[in-house]
Amino acid sequence: MMSNGATPLWLFGYGSLIWRPDFEYVERAPATLSDYARRFWQGSHDHRGTPQAPGRVVTLIDAPGAQCGGMAYRMDPATTERVLRRLDHREKNGYERLDASVALRSGRCVHAVVYRAMPGNFAWLGDAEHRQLAQQIADSSGPSGSNRDYLYELDAALSALEANDPHVSALTATVRQLSAPEATA
Ligand code: SIN
Repeated sequence: MMSNGATPLWLFGYGSLIWRPDFEYVERAPATLSDYARRFWQGSHDHRGTPQAPGRVVTLIDAPGAQCGGMAYRMDPATTERVLRRLDHREKNGYERLDASVALRSGRCVHAVVYRAMPGNFAWLGDAEHRQLAQQIADSSGPSGSNRDYLYELDAALSALEANDPHVSALTATVRQLSAPEATA
């Protein structure tokens, strides 16, 4: 999985790594990961929630036939190890590195590292009824900001990529409703 120094190593982001790539990369390109779906099923105790009141962030679940849109970043082999170590820290709340093949929009397939939180990890929250998911996102915040901003940023980034994701857009619509002034009046 690690770069052998000759092959450019790509990273595929499908959540905050799309809209907050605070790491070095050489180029980036919209890309698609097949047979996985993005879901707000991973708990966030460190970024968008707290240990007492975790928020919800995205992970990938197995979904044969599904297409998950995101952004692929090509890293400089000279800095890859350092970048991945920093990302290991950023994604430490239950994510692990997965080696996957992703299709760039040009049609080219590249091998990429993907941070995925596996079912059953210590921060796993899993599925819940749509309204309950939305309410938890609307109510949560942590050291990196509000959970709803994470959702809104992701929704905007996916729109910009023209990577429609009904799970994300439906949650965005419900969280906006729940967060409207009349909903709290
Ligand atoms: C990712 O963006 O690829 C992983 C999940 C996240 O950091 O939101």
